[in-house]
Amino acid sequence: MRDGRYQAWIERIKAESDIVSVVNGYTKLERRGRTYWGCCPFHQEKTPSFSVTPDKGLFYCFGCQAGGDVISFLMKVDHLTFMDAAKKLSVQLHIPVPEREQTPQEQAREKQLAKIREANGLAARFFHACLEQTEQGRLMRQYLRNRGIDKETSEKFMLGAALDRWDALFKALSKRGVEPEIMLAAGLIVKREKGDGYYDRFRNRVMFPIKDAHGRVVGFGGRAMGDASPKYLNTGETEWFNKRQLLYALDIALPVIRKERQAIVVEGYMDAISMHAAGLQQTVASLGTAFSEQQARLLAKIADSVCFAYDSDAAGQQATGRALEIVRKIGLKAKVLLLPDGKDPDEYVRNHGAQAMVALLNRAVSPLTFQVEQVLAKANLSTLAGKIEAVSNILPFLADAESTVEVAEQVRQLAGRLAIDEGVVQSELRAYLRKTGTRQPALAPAYRRRGPVETAWVEAERQLVLLMLYDPGLTPYLAAELPEGFLGEERAEIFRVLCEKHAAGEKPSGESLVGMLPERAGAELARILVTDYVPPEDMMKTVEDLLRQVQRARLEQRYEQHRLQADEFERMGDSRFLQELAESQRIKDEIKRLLG
Ligand code: UTP
Ligand code: MN
Repeated sequence: MRDGRYQAWIERIKAESDIVSVVNGYTKLERRGRTYWGCCPFHQEKTPSFSVTPDKGLFYCFGCQAGGDVISFLMKVDHLTFMDAAKKLSVQLHIPVPEREQTPQEQAREKQLAKIREANGLAARFFHACLEQTEQGRLMRQYLRNRGIDKETSEKFMLGAALDRWDALFKALSKRGVEPEIMLAAGLIVKREKGDGYYDRFRNRVMFPIKDAHGRVVGFGGRAMGDASPKYLNTGETEWFNKRQLLYALDIALPVIRKERQAIVVEGYMDAISMHAAGLQQTVASLGTAFSEQQARLLAKIADSVCFAYDSDAAGQQATGRALEIVRKIGLKAKVLLLPDGKDPDEYVRNHGAQAMVALLNRAVSPLTFQVEQVLAKANLSTLAGKIEAVSNILPFLADAESTVEVAEQVRQLAGRLAIDEGVVQSELRAYLRKTGTRQPALAPAYRRRGPVETAWVEAERQLVLLMLYDPGLTPYLAAELPEGFLGEERAEIFRVLCEKHAAGEKPSGESLVGMLPERAGAELARILVTDYVPPEDMMKTVEDLLRQVQRARLEQRYEQHRLQADEFERMGDSRFLQELAESQRIKDEIKRLLG
């Protein structure tokens, strides 16, 4: 892609295309000032929130956050690859298509990836054969049968056994011609610290291959037999194995989720497998408690709603609260399946059967109900002070809820359960809404929360991107002040590319950058560029203020991560939780210093 002729060809297509007439072929646009507006071709809407800015050659939808240049528009609307969209425009504009070659680096990388995939596939088959055919595997077979996993299920998930030996896998893969470098890169073996040689990373573990949505094995989780720690050992994170971007069992669940438009999300491997075995084949596992935004986006493409069925322990419930926050931001509907005390879905299905689980699914509650129950469970309702505190902890959730009917019903029930007057709760809610500047739900229009809720640091990052484009001299300063870049995934990518280009002495225009970025980063940049730029009066002060907001958000995120890690360690009885707790306290102090 870095070929000069190729770049010139793309630039020429963008320069000579008329984005307004291209888009007009799909949705009727009307001009207002220098921007054209229409109903978005990418989501259902009655009032236009889709904008086209011809002088920049960009489009952006304020409703669904789609955005980009003329090529990305065609890709999205006609479901084309980049090359096919570019070629289509090229033909229409009578621009000759240049021949393109891959760079040697691209070729080498693709080759390596293909080999890693192959090694992972071979390893999965080897582990599976060990499980089903070896004497040592019998113990693990027995273990799985005891956990209610029959041969059919074990086959479906290609479960396996890593034997209790140092180099069973290494030898087997070597015999099949897999190079040690590839096994290392795939995370299947580890280099000996002293001397030469390698040993298997997974030993004496029941193996769960983790596949991507296309069913390709990209990594493994290995469960210890007995009490060895860690209970689950996973493939180390690499650019092609990122747990935050994967959902266990998605390859199998995909067609069912597409059909039902609903997904169930559980925490663990075994939970997912038991749910499938119980006939709930729309289940995927988030692999641990932290449900990520990437995972939510993955599901948003194929489902309208998700139902969380996390463990009923404190960590699971806390994780549910965070997961709800994430799906809400993305506009995905959610429910929560409540498991009776101390259970995870796997145990529940095993003890009570599939039908009981389906009954729980049918009784899954709304996010609002879940949050109200969470607060009430922690509250001391035997005193008036406790009741008042509970109500004030519930107010933010009520103020935030989507459905006015549900809010009214919750207020009624809450008053009943706390044995206080309904009018009191209502007036507390009104006072809260006034104080926080939120509109009363009954008066709030349905579109109040269409699209993500923007926070200050998001806007700060956007402003900084504009400033960097307007005044490239700022780039090295910002790069030094923000060694970890931006927080928002798309803007982090934009920031990274701007720094890179600056270091290489290039000054691309914002418009030309849009098409060079990955889809979502390009859309975000399009959005940033369609807002009018007004240079600030005091550049340095503005930059400092914006910087502080981003730095603060970064610290808060780190704080949250350490606290989460502390939770998980505590849950696993790992004493490292003390360290994590101390670290989170230190970060909290740092935040105070930054603000003070
Ligand atoms: P749990 O500790 O709830 O495990 O972790 P589980 O699913 O109930 O496991 P069993 O039933 O004892 O076999 C939930 C998920 O968190 C991740 C795994 O993805 C696991 O399935 N996890 C947990 C790890 O990655 N490492 C660990 O050490 C523990
Ligand atoms: Mn379990």
